[in-house]
Amino acid sequence: MKKNTLLSMVLAGLLSLQAAGAAEAPRLVSRDGRHALLVDGKPFLMLGAQAHNSSNYPEALKPVWEAAKDAKANTVLMPVAWEQVEPEEGKFDFSFVDTLVKEARQQKQRLVILWFATWKNTSAQYTPAWVKLDPKRFPANLDREGKPNYSLSPFGTETLKADKRAFVALMAHLKKIDSAERTVLMVQVENEVGTYGLVRDFGKAAEAAFTQPVPAAVLARKKAVVPGAASGNWRAVYGDYADEYFHAWAIARYIGDIAAAGKAVYELPMYVNNALRNPLDQPPKPWNKDFASGGPTWDVIDIYKAAAPALDIVAPDIYRPESEQVNANLRLFQRADNALWVPEIGNAAAYGRYLYPILGHGAIGVAPFGIDYFNYSNFPLGSTSTDREMVEPFARVFKMFAPIQRQWAQWAFDGRTRGAAEGDDRKPQLLEFPGWVAKLSYREWQFGETSWKMTDKFPAGTEQPGGGVAIAQIGDDEFLVIGQRTRVRMEAAPGQNGFMLRTEQGRFDDQGRWVMERVWNGDQVDYGLNLPAEPVMLKIKMGRPR
Ligand code: DGJ
Repeated sequence: MKKNTLLSMVLAGLLSLQAAGAAEAPRLVSRDGRHALLVDGKPFLMLGAQAHNSSNYPEALKPVWEAAKDAKANTVLMPVAWEQVEPEEGKFDFSFVDTLVKEARQQKQRLVILWFATWKNTSAQYTPAWVKLDPKRFPANLDREGKPNYSLSPFGTETLKADKRAFVALMAHLKKIDSAERTVLMVQVENEVGTYGLVRDFGKAAEAAFTQPVPAAVLARKKAVVPGAASGNWRAVYGDYADEYFHAWAIARYIGDIAAAGKAVYELPMYVNNALRNPLDQPPKPWNKDFASGGPTWDVIDIYKAAAPALDIVAPDIYRPESEQVNANLRLFQRADNALWVPEIGNAAAYGRYLYPILGHGAIGVAPFGIDYFNYSNFPLGSTSTDREMVEPFARVFKMFAPIQRQWAQWAFDGRTRGAAEGDDRKPQLLEFPGWVAKLSYREWQFGETSWKMTDKFPAGTEQPGGGVAIAQIGDDEFLVIGQRTRVRMEAAPGQNGFMLRTEQGRFDDQGRWVMERVWNGDQVDYGLNLPAEPVMLKIKMGRPR
């Protein structure tokens, strides 16, 4: 074939794709240890809202859309359950998925689909009845005495086959209904996997695999906490950690196999979420019934990467509100080989401020859990309220990012963003940028210095920590600040000269143009920039004297 004939065929193909309105598939990209989710070819920031567990039915969607809209979210995370799509073996019903995707488009929401199947919070509760009722074909994990545990074994070959077949059918269906519009951005495979109360499966197949040599891919990535043999079986290499690492490998391999099969029919980014183990347990102690063994906790991310290359991200579900815990988790899950993505964070008000460090650190997105006006509250994990009051602490932050989400995602990908939340210790913090620093302090009045001791009162509403700020360095000497309840002092980096020249308060309009509302000067800058309870956006020009 002549060269230009081939070229014109390629061009014709591209043009017909364009004519059909086919959008580019969402995909993850990495550069210099940072990550972006490309949607329609450009970085996208998922301002997410996760629905409640039982909202995956057409009649239950309205309260989800309402809450997501109030939250100013752009992406809804919604379960699709194995029990609902394959109630009878081999007969698939994707009518809910059709309704979900259709309504999401009407609502101008993107979607992340959560595949609730073999494991949902470690249990088999979302498997179809024909799975639940056939333990011979779909075996449970066995304990050391051979007694069946509540959770399914990752060595159940029939379970894997059946789950995979259903997942592939789901992905094929998504391809059919969504490869032109790409409403669905990512898929979570299973939900909070692992096993509580039992370190691993002791069934026959598991026992046989446990005595095999640790696979080379795992050895290459996962170092032993207490050095054992350089190679050999799990016990020889990993000692007291062998059982939990083996279980992580077995589950990762199972999910990775499902993800790979799904991607082969329709390629979307895929991830696993996890019920966290204590991030402050450093170095981690061996499992002692204190977390879900086998889940993708921070200390076994490398095992998941080795055993399940089709899983793009291991993601934390954040339900401990202490700032030390949150910060440690963000650090542990943001890696050159793992994009930071927080698919669940509690919907209690205390979590609202953490959206700033999450988005400031360059996460591809975050989703508070239970952004849904279904009359159900998961207090004490989350909020007691189930209405607007619950959505408010997140809406007030998302509202600021929503108009610039694409731009923010690009800045984050370029390494220009930072963020912080007020710590439980209420202490000052520092954000460093090339040439400049932002000094942050909390619980201050907007006027004056605490050292003047003119009052011993604190501003109303600061009884609990609630401050947060995210800053982008949008030019060498220019910053965009978004935040609440924080005093920000922008200064030259140590040893350099410079000061704030001009600070504008404003917003971006629908076209992405900056609309200046006022210039902050006088009292408004003499004591730092005092961001009020309701977030503001500031554009700051710094200057260096010649
Ligand atoms: C974490 C799980 O992943 C969610 O599905 C949900 O069960 C919450 N815990 C609790 O509300």
